[in-house]
Amino acid sequence: MPTIDTIGVLGCGLMGSGIAQVAAQAGYRVLVRDTAASQLEKGRISIGKSTAKLVEKGKLSAADREAALGRLTFVIDLADLAGCDLIIEAVTEDLALKNELWSQLDRLCPPHTIFSSNTSSLTIAAMAAGTSRRDRFAGLHFFNPVPLMPLVEVVRSIGTSQETIDRLFGFVRRMEKEPVVARDSSGFIVNLLLVPYILDAIRAVERGVASVSDIDTAMRLGASHPMGPLTLADFVGLDTLARIGDIMFDEYREARYAPPPLLRRMVTAGLYGRKSGQGFYDYAKDPPVPVELGL
Ligand code: CAA
Repeated sequence: MPTIDTIGVLGCGLMGSGIAQVAAQAGYRVLVRDTAASQLEKGRISIGKSTAKLVEKGKLSAADREAALGRLTFVIDLADLAGCDLIIEAVTEDLALKNELWSQLDRLCPPHTIFSSNTSSLTIAAMAAGTSRRDRFAGLHFFNPVPLMPLVEVVRSIGTSQETIDRLFGFVRRMEKEPVVARDSSGFIVNLLLVPYILDAIRAVERGVASVSDIDTAMRLGASHPMGPLTLADFVGLDTLARIGDIMFDEYREARYAPPPLLRRMVTAGLYGRKSGQGFYDYAKDPPVPVELGL
């Protein structure tokens, strides 16, 4: 089996930078590609902060941090990824954009290179179809915050070879994360169960079952979840959640995946959660307080 030594990460946002970080910490040489230098700089800063926090907590030595940072290269030219053994795509959930990148990389990369996508809800088949390497195409779905969350879903699509799954399992384990294999159906395992749960919590707010903070407290203390569902919705991003819900509803045509009206209104109003400063909670306050939703 060809070894995996060099990783190419497409997209230097929250997920892409986290994936690049954990791969570099595991000893891989990593090329992170984005279209704007400003986005690459944001990712570099966030990796610097996250690894500094790990050193502060005693989870990473200062020398290992320096070595990991030294294994990262930030690039704009897609052609720089031509020598990678594994590509992990973490760009916006836009199939046309992803497929444009795949079609270019399919021409640039050698036959042994594995293509993988961190998509949360699109299917792998919809990306692999346009390439000449269906057997070397899989999903590799990480969870936010990537440096702390130990799971990676490895997604087997139509035609994905066992060798590809084995190579990806080896890669995930070297990052000291736990791989699980899932079929190529929208949402895979985690989002199939998590998205309707979060959407149900939003429906409970709409129906006036309880306040935002009481729903969160109930699930934290009554079900031992690290975060309540509405805090988690803000953490994932309400715009992202609505987009995932729409894609899953398109796939299954089941009402439980459909974003509820309150979620749509909040996205329209620019309440995206933590990233925009307001969602179910106002993050300008410490600790954050529930936002008046006019219900
Ligand atoms: N890198 C390094 N350190 C980090 C970090 C990062 N990216 N993010 C947080 N930390 C640190 C914090 O700074 C904090 O340090 P201090 O204790 O010094 O303050 C420490 O980790 C613990 O963080 P918190 O105080 O926030 O405490 P926590 O115990 O709640 O842990 C958590 C944080 C791991 C995020 C936990 O709340 C959790 O597991 N939440 C649920 C997350 C979850 O469900 N993620 C999945 C989202 S769904 C998804 O990703 C898939 C999709 O497709 C939508």
